[in-house]
Amino acid sequence: MNSPKTENGGSIIRSPTPGPELFVSGKVLDAAGKLIEGVEVDVWQSSPIGLYENQDDTQADMNLRGKFTTDAQGSFRFRSVKPAGYPVPTDGPVGDMLRAQSRHPYRPAHIHFLGFKPGFKTLITQVFVDDDQHLSSDAVFGVTRALIGDYRRHDSGAPPAPDMKAPWYSLDYTFVMEAGEAKLPVPPIK
Ligand SMILES: [Fe+2]
Repeated sequence: MNSPKTENGGSIIRSPTPGPELFVSGKVLDAAGKLIEGVEVDVWQSSPIGLYENQDDTQADMNLRGKFTTDAQGSFRFRSVKPAGYPVPTDGPVGDMLRAQSRHPYRPAHIHFLGFKPGFKTLITQVFVDDDQHLSSDAVFGVTRALIGDYRRHDSGAPPAPDMKAPWYSLDYTFVMEAGEAKLPVPPIK
């Protein structure tokens, strides 16, 4: 809920985070294909070694988290680093279940997105990295074909920000929000 509000085009890298640079641009449409302005888009992701900031003492508070607002063109964009996949915790009942099913605990790399605007059903989803080896065996079965993003590698050409160094990646993704009641639970969730 208290993820830092960030300007479009700004960075969610809040402490040094080695790894391939990534530029994300997103568009939000309604069911009729009309661009939606003023959607609050909350994003969060793991680092290039597969840890969220709250799991990693080397990352600043709120690193790789941010809240954006779609502009008049229904778009938002930000700078980050390419996330890595990670294992879900296996020290509880989930671990027992995975072992009973002879399944690995890995999630393919992804970025989380939450879209919120009154008049639309809150959209909570993830966009997966297309070169991840665990796309077809996600421990929590979250992957669908439509949620695999085009994380495109660029070895040359003009980057979206002058100080981004090749190779850098881009992700361009379009989200659709359905009309309905906007709900957003207030943490801590009981
Ligand atoms: Fe995640």
